[in-house]
Amino acid sequence: MTLSIPRRTVAVAALALAGLLGSAAPAATAGPAASAGPAAALAAPDIPLANVKAHLTQLQSIASANGGNRAHGRAGYKASLDYVKAKLDAAGFTTSVQQFTSSGATGYNLIADWPGGDPNQVLMAGAHLDSVSSGAGINDNGSGSAAVLETALAVSRAQLNPTKHLRFGWWGAEELGLVGSKYYVNNLPSAERSKFSGYLNFDMIGSPNPGYFVYDDDPAIEKTFKDFYAGLNVPTEIETEGDGRSDHASFKNVGIPVGGLFTGASRTKSAAQAQKWGGTSGQAFDRCYHSSCDNTSNINDTALDRNSDAVAHAIWTLGTEPTVPPGDAYENTADVSVPDNGTAVTSTVTVTGRTGNAPAALKAGVDIKHTWRGDLVIDLVAPDGSAYRLKNSSGNDSADNVVATYTVDASSETANGAWKLRVQDVAAQDTGYIDSWKLTF
Ligand code: TRP
Ligand code: ZN
Ligand code: CA
Repeated sequence: MTLSIPRRTVAVAALALAGLLGSAAPAATAGPAASAGPAAALAAPDIPLANVKAHLTQLQSIASANGGNRAHGRAGYKASLDYVKAKLDAAGFTTSVQQFTSSGATGYNLIADWPGGDPNQVLMAGAHLDSVSSGAGINDNGSGSAAVLETALAVSRAQLNPTKHLRFGWWGAEELGLVGSKYYVNNLPSAERSKFSGYLNFDMIGSPNPGYFVYDDDPAIEKTFKDFYAGLNVPTEIETEGDGRSDHASFKNVGIPVGGLFTGASRTKSAAQAQKWGGTSGQAFDRCYHSSCDNTSNINDTALDRNSDAVAHAIWTLGTEPTVPPGDAYENTADVSVPDNGTAVTSTVTVTGRTGNAPAALKAGVDIKHTWRGDLVIDLVAPDGSAYRLKNSSGNDSADNVVATYTVDASSETANGAWKLRVQDVAAQDTGYIDSWKLTF
């Protein structure tokens, strides 16, 4: 059977005039639109270990004055929160206390916002502030609470002007099952959830027989911590002692990119780990985990010092890097000719500076000049090579040009990387070129 499809005159003249036929322009990539803030991330200050330890001394005193613990529903918890809040208020943070009920007792989260930064890109660091009832909880989790507090105070001392909006959180009732952080996340309107560029969790970061563990979650956050430790020449391992056992799980469950640090709980340090980190093999990372001896003696100063500096490094690096406001586009305006009835051609845009995955409603705006658009098959190709069909060919779609915006569920794709528009002309005679295309996040 012979297909006879009416074809209109090829607009060779116009294309030739534009100097486009036969010239596959290099796929240069235009960057995102200019945004506020520094051109590169700023270097973090050293966090004074003495300041972090002074907070631990205060938390120990609070526990000692309140029956030996800082547990949910006990006086020592609220006193801990009041201590942290007073420091933040004096330093210029906007604080709020969120109440919830768990096991018949009132629980509290403390949220502290540093004024400024892009309100549509929130970077949050948090730690649980409650202990178990059997002890003062100085490593679990005075350590994370104190490091996050001292980093927030360092933000104030530096009067940091971040690109992202910085928020700090201290969670109640983590030891009852991540209750406070779940409450916080569940009560975020969905429009607020989508503004989080990341959540960083610090739970047990000064274990007395420490390991150096980095959460294996969002790649950009993980890399930030690994880079810090590479700079110290200290090897790290991926955290495996119970993924989902701390407050980052609450954020991860709603699709927020997460990361964090950990120095180990009741698991035993291996000979290989003692070899590279020092300490005692065959012994738990924290022999006082969830017991009465988790007091100010239950801290390794070197681990607490390094990890406190790592918290600041992550806040400074991720919080001051140039950002692309949501809605901004990555565009390639270089022309690429599409050979008639030939092989596929591509045009690339390189996405940088984002954390986590692409949105569920990624917009691919396509502008292809062509004299018979039915000839064209168009795919969006993600950085890992997976293809999303935007348009099939059609024998009877005789209109000119493809000027359209396609919505793609790209939520399983890492946002950063080289995205390609792949265009193939699958029928003879009519021709055209990619004029421009863009991805809008
Ligand atoms: N949050 C846990 C607790 O308090 C401690 C813990 C165990 C942990 N495994 C972890 C914290 C892994 C962070 C990551 O009981
Ligand atoms: Zn803990
Ligand atoms: Ca053709």
